[in-house]
Amino acid sequence: MSQRPFATFGLFAVVCAAVVLFAFTRDGEGDPATQAVAAQDEAARDLFATNCGTCHTLSAAGTDGVVGPNLDELLVPSAPVDPTTLGDSYDGYYTRVLQAVECGLNGRMPKGILQGEQAQDVSSFVAAYAGQLGDDAAPSVDTSTAPQPPLEGGCPTQNTGPSGG
Ligand code: HEC
Repeated sequence: MSQRPFATFGLFAVVCAAVVLFAFTRDGEGDPATQAVAAQDEAARDLFATNCGTCHTLSAAGTDGVVGPNLDELLVPSAPVDPTTLGDSYDGYYTRVLQAVECGLNGRMPKGILQGEQAQDVSSFVAAYAGQLGDDAAPSVDTSTAPQPPLEGGCPTQNTGPSGG
């Protein structure tokens, strides 16, 4: 029966196609770990998840990287945060994150992972959402109006060792 191998192969092909289709459909439903953020923040959240999430945990982006510090804890260590000072905190967090992104840190975090506007967008996202845990996480500031200035004064000279290099 020369038909038999073809029938077997045909069945195999159909099963493969079904598996691939299934995988794509599931991807299309979105990552359940990804948290809902304001529509204006989705692009920055995706930038973070792609470029930073492998190394950093940030609840609002649904990432759990452990190579670098947990940014929810690093930036907002002492909960509860006083809501009246959140605006101030934002500026400080923003600059700290942007400097890490553009300059790197201690040779452990690579510099320039993102640049220009993308670096500023991600920094604003992290500054607004750090420490915002749980399903009802809300940004501490409106990122569409919050300042996102470029880094002033360039990168500090990095201390490369105990003797200063
Ligand atoms: C390859 C892994 C890696 C990637 C990718 C990475 N980081 Fe880091 N990051 C680190 C490590 C490691 C540290 C801690 C360095 C140290 O303290 O010596 C760090 C530190 C930081 C800090 C703390 C800076 C401070 O002042 O203490 C921030 C903020 C930060 N990263 C943000 C980001 C953002 C935003 C991105 C994406 C654009 C990113 N990181 C991508 C590894 C990474």
